[in-house]
This record gives sequence, C-alpha cells and structure tokens, in this order.
Amino acid sequence: MNKPRLLEELFPNHPYADWLSGSCEPWTVGIICALIQATSPRFLLETGTLEAMTTLRMHCASGEDSTLISLECMKDRWEEASTKCLDLKGVTILNVEAVAFLLNYKGPKFDFVFLDDDHGVDHVAMELDLLHNFATGEGLMAPGGIICIHDVHGTFGLGAIVVARHGFLLNLPILHKSGGLGILQTPVRPA
Ligand SMILES: C[S@@+](CC[C@H](N)C(=O)[O-])C[C@H]1O[C@@H](n2cnc3c(N)ncnc32)[C@H](O)[C@@H]1O
Repeated sequence: MNKPRLLEELFPNHPYADWLSGSCEPWTVGIICALIQATSPRFLLETGTLEAMTTLRMHCASGEDSTLISLECMKDRWEEASTKCLDLKGVTILNVEAVAFLLNYKGPKFDFVFLDDDHGVDHVAMELDLLHNFATGEGLMAPGGIICIHDVHGTFGLGAIVVARHGFLLNLPILHKSGGLGILQTPVRPA
C-alpha cells in the first residue's frame, strides 16, 4: 500500500518546493501541461490564478505564440500574480469573477481551459455550460477543445457533472493527496 509522502520527498529539488496548499498539485499540473503539449492550443483560459504557479507552467507548455488568460477575483492575489507574469508574452491576468467573465466574453474561442476557481457544483456546472452546452452545441470552446476540471473527487461532488457532460475522471490516489482531474473534450465537428 502506498503511503502519502511529503512533497519534498516525492520531488526533491523540484521547482515547486514553494508549493502551497491551494495550488494545483505538481503532478496534476504535469498532466495538464502534457495535454497542452500534445494539442498545441492557441487560446487558453485558467479560472482561479492564486499565485500563478499553474499559470506559469501552462504558459511554458503552450509557448509564446499562444494567448493565456487567467482569472482571479481577489484583488491582492491578482496584483501579486500580475506582477509575476508581467514579462510573459501572451499572458494576461484579469481581476474578474469567472462566470461574469464568461457571460461577457466575445473573444476567440478557447482551445484549452483549466477550471480551478470556485469549486461549488452549481458554479462549475454553469461554467461548463457556458464553455460548451452539450445539448445545443453552443459555447465559448473551439471544436475539439479540452476542458480540465480540478478536484473532481472528494467532497466537492464535481465528478458527476463532468461525467454527465461526457467527460472522464482521473484520480491519482497513489500519488499523495489529490483531488483528481476531470477531462472533457468538446466535439471535434460542430453538431
Ligand atoms: C484553488 S485556487 C487556484 C489555484 C491555481 N489554479 C493554481 O493551480 O495554482 C482558487 C482561486 O480562485 C479564486 N476564485 C474563487 N472563486 C472565484 C471566482 N468565482 N472567479 C474568479 N476567481 C475565483 C480564489 O481567490 C483563488 O485564488
């Protein structure tokens, strides 16, 4: 039986040595970045910036020709994260509430989204439906776009709303504490 281990033991000298609870687990970010590297998305979105730890790695994975918007509703966190990302070409951190942003968004469709803001079921369900409504085929995602949803296991109960939208759930119980990752892809061809 694998026992939970300290992050420093699992990843000695890892750049995530300053990882704090609240940031996405490094191995889960690794999966997100692998999906980005595999699909070369042009327009990316992250909801919930916190310290921009995942933002930085998503940017590294997608490259300077991509556009990455990250949303943070708390002003102090947004200020700190914006300063961190100031020199990163194509990265914008916005101080905005995520659903309000999605409701008003008129820009290019997203190829890749990482949902990691408010984990309430109704909130995430609304975000998913605005990104891609599987009943109508409408939304802000490009065909074949990928949406990753953090913490689908455990107390939040997000797994069911991901599965209901044809997504699947990746749980990593052997890798220390993890809330798991939901992954769904919008249809490659519009209905
Ligand atoms: C789990 S943390 C994000 C962690 C970050 N994605 C990472 O991997 O390092 C959630 C963040 O979302 C922000 N947040 C919560 N609800 C939000 C909302 N409705 N809109 C935008 N940001 C929100 C919180 O202030 C917090 O900083």
